[in-house]
Order: sequence, then structure tokens, then C-alpha cells
Amino acid sequence: MKIAVIGTGYVGLVSGTCFAETGNIVTCVDIDQAKIDRLTQGEITIYEPGLEKMFLKNLRDGRLKFTTDLNEGILEAQIVFLALPTPPGEDGSADLKYILGVADKIGKLLEDYKVIVDKSTVPVGTADKVKAAIDKHAKVEFDVVSNPEFLREGVALEDFMKPDRVVIGASSERAKKVMGDLYAPFVRQGNPVIFMDEKSAELTKYAANSFLATKISFMNEIAQLCERLGADVDMVRRGIGSDNRIGKRFLFPGIGYGGSCFPKDVKALIMSSEEVNYDFQILKSVERVNEIQKTHLIPKIQAFFNNDLKEKHFALWGLAFKPNTDDIREAPSLNIIQSLLKSGATVSAYDPEAMNNVKNQLGNTIKYALNPYDALKGADALIIATEWSEFRTPDFEQMNYLLKNKVIFDGRNLYSSQNEALQGYNYFCIGKNN
Ligand SMILES: NC(=O)c1ccc[n+]([C@@H]2O[C@H](COP(=O)([O-])OP(=O)(O)OC[C@H]3O[C@@H](n4cnc5c(N)ncnc54)[C@H](O)[C@@H]3O)[C@@H](O)[C@H]2O)c1
Repeated sequence: MKIAVIGTGYVGLVSGTCFAETGNIVTCVDIDQAKIDRLTQGEITIYEPGLEKMFLKNLRDGRLKFTTDLNEGILEAQIVFLALPTPPGEDGSADLKYILGVADKIGKLLEDYKVIVDKSTVPVGTADKVKAAIDKHAKVEFDVVSNPEFLREGVALEDFMKPDRVVIGASSERAKKVMGDLYAPFVRQGNPVIFMDEKSAELTKYAANSFLATKISFMNEIAQLCERLGADVDMVRRGIGSDNRIGKRFLFPGIGYGGSCFPKDVKALIMSSEEVNYDFQILKSVERVNEIQKTHLIPKIQAFFNNDLKEKHFALWGLAFKPNTDDIREAPSLNIIQSLLKSGATVSAYDPEAMNNVKNQLGNTIKYALNPYDALKGADALIIATEWSEFRTPDFEQMNYLLKNKVIFDGRNLYSSQNEALQGYNYFCIGKNN
């Protein structure tokens, strides 16, 4: 099939590459000329494990193309995916200006039947709005489908190539057939393609992300209780996770969720609820708990240094909002940095992939280390904000030598306090008193 993907960010680039991988001819469109130039020249623009290899193969084989020209992108396409940003507007609701702006243009360009697919995370009713925007100008038949994306950054390729499920909101039989054929190679193992109406598909995405965010905030509150009651959150996690009704995943406490999805999607669902006079109380608490959790380590750090962080120097391991991505949107590391700098401290940070993105945002307000150990030189303490694998079994001997004090504030519970290498350390983590 011939496919256009409008918006070549995390979702658009992964989707476009994976559709090309199954033999489709894909044209990715973006308004960012520099991004399109780099991609056309074979330079990958995001870090996602495995993506570069697949991207280069499909580029070389001519199944993946890039352009800034919307008309060129959609001209021959049978399916047009919208993988555009839906950031929070001023009131927290999803801003649809990118989606509806492109829909309006597509309406003017349509020359034959196409299926237009919302892959962005959009509020209930957006498919109708996209349809109306295209319909204003369109002189030919078209269908609008909602196909929310569930990929997780860091394992996006695996999620896209072998999805747990594909959700398709469509009322037209013609569009359902096109979408079913497109996804058939991705669900050969038998995972379901779930067809439903457009509104239910749109809500499914928000419900999924909000439920996962709820699980995280719930566990972070249990961790708060553990610290106050002297219980061990890891024991509680294992105790409840072995109940199949609860499940083992998403029960790890930490310093809160970040990224481009959970924070904005929780906010958007709260706003959508308010628009229909529903007070979504659980989600409001989920959001509040997460905001508090992002800086949960700060009072511990302040207490340890007698409320005086002036001229203290901290090593920070991990900047990305989670491992295996360079995405720093809403990353808790940024809240921690801000808070430390405000208290007069200095920071030397290291992340395997996200350094450039942080440099673009924070400039020279912090130091950027060459490797994890470089960050430790002369630091009064180490703070861990992201659970990259390479931080899990570090060379403690080198750490002992480089750190000024043997102090670790671990926001991701990477180590066990029983670990012999931690002898002599003041080790603070989440949900346990050591
Ligand atoms: N990132 C994720 O893990 C993820 C997962 C599932 C769903 N989503 C949803 O997918 C959507 C896209 O997210 P993302 O993370 O890929 O965003 P992104 O910001 O990484 O990428 C969006 C791209 O769209 C481009 N763009 C903006 N306006 C354009 C226009 N008029 N024409 C063409 N291109 C334009 C931008 O230049 C950018 O490259 C959002 O709704 C998001 O909530 C994201």
C-alpha cells in the first residue's frame, strides 16, 4: 500500500519505518525542514533502540521517503496518518490546532478516495471535527478513522511490530477493510485488531494512559506510607503483584511519571470530563501525587545537608524521563535540577542519550559529564533520576574514590541496601528506611 505519515516525530517516524518494513511505500511529511533534510540524508533524528537500522534499510530500499510538501506526501497515498502533536493548551485540554490545520489543508488537496487516520492522542469527538474540516473543501469521498497508538518509547519498535492489540475506531466498512489489511502482518501471532466506533477508540487511549498513571501514583503513595510506617515497598510490591488481578507490571515506585504522554493525557482527560460536567476525582489526585513525587528526594537531600545546599555539588545520573530514550519532556530530572539550582547548589549530569536535548533546554546552567564517573568528581552526593541499565551495577570502588561523600539519593531503587558494595554509604531510596 502507499501510505503518508504527517508528522515525523517519535510516533510518525516509528510508524512510518515499521509500515515500510512490511513492504508498504511510505512518505513521511514534516514542516521541520532541518529534520526532513537530516532524515533524507540517512541521519536518524531520535534515539530509539533498533530504529536506525530499520530506518536505513527501508530508506536504502526506496520504501521510505521524506518531504516537507504535504501535497507530494499524500498525492498517491491510500492511507494518510496524522501523527501530529496534541500538546496541552492553556487550560490543559489537548490543543487540536496542528491536527485541524492539516485536516483543513488535506481537504483542499484530496483528488481521490483516501482513509485519513488520527494516530495522535486526541479527545473524544476529534474524528468528527477532522471529518468536518476535510469536508469543508473535499470534492471526493474519504473516511476518517481513529487508530490510537500505544507504543512505548524505548521499546517502540517491538510494540509497533508486535502490538498487544490494534484499536481501530471506524464506522465505514470500506475503511475497516483497508485498516484490517494494513495491520494484518503485525498481528499474525493472533493478537486482536479491535474494531469499535471512533469515540470509543479515542477514549480507549486516554483510559489506558490514565489507568497506568493511576497505578504509578498509587504505588508512589504506598511508598510514602512505607517510609512513614517502616515497611519495605519492594516487599509490598511483590506481595500484591503476584495477584493476577493486580499484575506485576507498573508497580515500581519512583520519582513520578514524565514523558510526552502521561502528564498531558491525564490533564486532557480531566479537562474533557469537566467539559461534560464530570469531576474526575481520581485523576486529579493522580496528577497531584505525581507533582509531589517528582521532587520527593529534595526534602531528603535538604535534611541530610542540614537545609543548606549552597555551594554543594551534586552528580546526577539520568536525564531522560525513562531509560532507552532521549526524550526529556516532563522528565523528573528537570524538576530536581531546578530545585537544586534554586537552593544554590551546582549539578554535573550524565545521561547516555539525552544530554543534547538537555543542553538545548538548560544551556550552561549545569555541567555535562563525559561519562557516569566523570559526573562524580568532587560531588557531595549522587542523585539517580533514570533507571538506565548501565547504572545498575556500577564500579563502586571508582565511585568511592571520586565522590566527596559516600551518599546516594536513588529515585529509582536501583540498589539493595544489603549490597556489600554500599557498606559505608548513606543510601536513600523510595519507600524504605535503610
Ligand atoms: N511519543 C510517544 O511515546 C507517543 C505514544 C503514543 C501516542 N503519542 C501521541 O502521538 C502524537 C505525536 O506524538 P510525538 O511524540 O510523535 O510528537 P513529536 O512532537 O515527537 O512529533 C510531532 C511532529 O509533528 C511535526 N509537525 C508539527 N506540525 C506539523 C504540520 N503542520 N505538518 C507536518 N508536521 C508537523 C513536528 O515538527 C514534529 O516532528 C501525540 O498526540 C502523542 O500524544 C505519542
